[in-house]
Amino acid sequence: MVKVTVCGAAGGIGQPLSLLLKQSEHITHLSLYDIVNTPGVAADLSHINTKSKVTGHKGNEQLEEAIKDSDVVVIPAGVPRKPGMTRDDLFKINAGIVRDLATAAAKYAPKAFMCIISNPVNSTVPIVAEVFKKHGVYDPRRIFGVTTLDIVRASTFVSELIGADAASLKVPVVGGHSGVTILPLLSQVPGTEKLSEEQIKQVTNRIQFGGDEVVKAKDGAGSATLSMAYAGARFALNIIEAAKGAKGITECTYIDLAAAGDAAQSVKDVAGDVAYFSVPVELGTEGVSKVLPIGQINEYEKSLFAAATPELQGNIAKGASFQ
Ligand code: NAD
Ligand code: LMR
Repeated sequence: MVKVTVCGAAGGIGQPLSLLLKQSEHITHLSLYDIVNTPGVAADLSHINTKSKVTGHKGNEQLEEAIKDSDVVVIPAGVPRKPGMTRDDLFKINAGIVRDLATAAAKYAPKAFMCIISNPVNSTVPIVAEVFKKHGVYDPRRIFGVTTLDIVRASTFVSELIGADAASLKVPVVGGHSGVTILPLLSQVPGTEKLSEEQIKQVTNRIQFGGDEVVKAKDGAGSATLSMAYAGARFALNIIEAAKGAKGITECTYIDLAAAGDAAQSVKDVAGDVAYFSVPVELGTEGVSKVLPIGQINEYEKSLFAAATPELQGNIAKGASFQ
C-alpha cells in the first residue's frame, strides 16, 4: 500500500502532477488536497483505469483525513511568481501555507517522505524541518526540496548545445533553487569541453534563470507548471521506487546536511557554511541513504559557489526562524 498526498492538487502544478502520479502502478491511494476544487479534480482523475484509488479533500477541516498515514506528501501549494518578482517575494504568503501543511504531516503522517515544491524552496524546506523538529518527529533523510526541474532544464539546454540526447544526458545541479544559488556543474558533463567560455556562461545563466524565462513568457499567468509536474512526478516516483527497495537511484535534492552524516563536512568544504544544500544523493528505503560527492569543480564554478553562499545562508535563516 502506498498512499501519496498532493497538497495544492487543484493548482497549475497540482493537477498535471496528480495526473502523472495516477499513472503509477506503485501508488494505491492518491489523495488530493487543496482549499478549492479538489472534489472535481478527484472525480475526473478517478475515472482513469489505473491502480490507485483517488480521493478529494477540500479545506482545513479535511486536511487530517487527506494526509493521514501518507507514505509520500508532495507540496506544490501556494502562490506562484508574476513578472518582476523573486521567489523570496513569495515567502510572506507561502511560508504560512507550508508551515500549516507540514504541521498536519508531522501530526498525522510523521514518517512520510516530504517533497517540497512550494517556493521559495531555499526557505520552505527549513520551515518544514523546524515543524518536524517541534513535533519531535524529525528525520532529515525524509525531507526534500524538489530541485529536479533545474536538472531537467539543464539536461535540455546543454544537450541542445552539445548535440546530446536530452533524456539521457545527466547534468548535476547543486546548491539551492533560486537564481545565483542554482549551481550547474557543467565541467562534469562530457561534451561541454567543446563549448566556449562564453557559451558556458550563457547556458549557466539560462539554467539559473530558467524559471524567469517561463514567468516572462506566461506574462502574469504564473510560472512553470507542466515541466514542474513532470519533474515533481519523476522525483516522487523515484522516492517510491527506492522506498520499495530499488537500488542505485540518484537525484540531486535540497536537504538538511544533517542527513549527510560524515559527508556533510566535505559539502561544506566546497559550499561554505550552509546548513541546507542541494546535493546528489542515493535514495533508499528510508529516504536519503547516501550523500554522493559533489566532485571536481573548476575555477568558474568556484566563483558561482562563492556568489551563492550568502544568498542561501540568508534564505535558510529566514525559513528556520519562521514560526
Ligand atoms: P497555482 O496558484 O496554480 O496553484 C497553487 C494551488 O495551491 C492552488 O490550487 C491553491 O488553491 C492551493 N493552495 C493555496 N493555499 C493552500 C493551502 N493552504 N493548502 C492547500 N492548497 C493551497 O500555483 P502553481 O503554479 O501550481 O505553483 C505552486 C507553487 O510551486 C508556487 O509557490 C511556485 O512558485 C512553486 N514552484 C516551484 C517549482 C520548483 O522547481 N520547486 C517550480 C514551479 C513552481
Ligand atoms: C521555476 O524554477 O520554474 C520555479 O521555481 C517557479 C519560478 O518562480 O520560477
